[in-house]
Amino acid sequence: MIPPARPDLGPEEIAAVTEVLNSGMIAGGRRVAELEDRWADFCGVKHAIALANGTVALMSIFAGLGLGPGDEVITVSHTFNATVSSILFTGASPVFVDIEPDTYLMDAGRIEAAITPRTRAICPVSLFGLVADMDAIQAIADRHGLTVVEDACQAHGAQYRGRRAGSFGYAAFSLYGTKNMTTGEGGFVTTVDDRLADWIRLYRNQGMRERYHHEILGYNFRMTDIAAAIGLVQLDKLERNTARRQEIARRYDEAFADLPVILPTWPEGRTHVFHQYTLGVGPTRDQIVADMKTAGVICGIYYPIPCHRQAYVLELGLEADLPNTDAAAASSMSLPMYPGLTEAEQSQVIEALRTSILANTASTGKLS
Ligand SMILES: Cc1ncc(COP(=O)(O)O)c(C=O)c1O
Repeated sequence: MIPPARPDLGPEEIAAVTEVLNSGMIAGGRRVAELEDRWADFCGVKHAIALANGTVALMSIFAGLGLGPGDEVITVSHTFNATVSSILFTGASPVFVDIEPDTYLMDAGRIEAAITPRTRAICPVSLFGLVADMDAIQAIADRHGLTVVEDACQAHGAQYRGRRAGSFGYAAFSLYGTKNMTTGEGGFVTTVDDRLADWIRLYRNQGMRERYHHEILGYNFRMTDIAAAIGLVQLDKLERNTARRQEIARRYDEAFADLPVILPTWPEGRTHVFHQYTLGVGPTRDQIVADMKTAGVICGIYYPIPCHRQAYVLELGLEADLPNTDAAAASSMSLPMYPGLTEAEQSQVIEALRTSILANTASTGKLS
């Protein structure tokens, strides 16, 4: 079976982990700080703070901005659950706006209608490896005195008008095992805000600057040195692995150019890092995914139930009318995408998708 994702881990990561284990400093050593410095440099931002995962990175930003009950954060529903749960963690409420049908990203044109006197922040998600329209979003935020928090969990190294994902002010990254860069579990906050950076460093460490002096209510959201050692090697590989993802994407684009499917798109001035290669394939999506599995290819569906339709969100009475989000949930699928995908494996994916699409469109020539 060809999996949807596979981390690129090899002898360098094994050597780096072995060195940490042999050193005896498996937590609280120098590697976390080294990874933070290098990630801040890579993103072109003043502060990077390494954390236990991307969810706590988002939670820490929203908590550090002082969000609480009665506050609202404008975000999208076509995202991983943690974007929404991290807002709710603070007691604030998510307010959902729809996505653009072609990029799957927050539609900046819908933000102003969602702003109320309670709105404090806007949280666009740089989904699948593509940064949302940050200039348009920031301009709206500036007009209304709001903070923009980028969920960059899927966008390591992506660029928007020459700037990296994570460099716009406040951002969270995930280093989970399937991400473009991984430490198994892990995350970063990147920020230009000295006060927030200092606060999150305390917050992740039980509120302590000095041992057993708890200045603020904090928790243990720290990254281990074992994870950071893997992260340093992964960062060395990131640009090469991104180039490989882009090469795989180009081959998919060419192979499917004549099919009645919607290929990934990205506006000029942005660099897509293809965390996912996501296609719109119409109402027979589930049949196509099943056909692919029969042909030995596991595809992903991100995300089959949008956040605003999840049971716990419905219970909160958070209503939203999001036709583009619902359409994406029903008709998109993602193909295997990872640097180690071989030419032969990719040929198998291409052949399987072409066969299934042509069979599913045999009578009409169309998917919808
Ligand atoms: C868009 C998005 N936000 C947040 C997260 C949460 O990150 P983590 O799984 O590291 O907690 C993820 C990762 O799965 C994600 O894809």
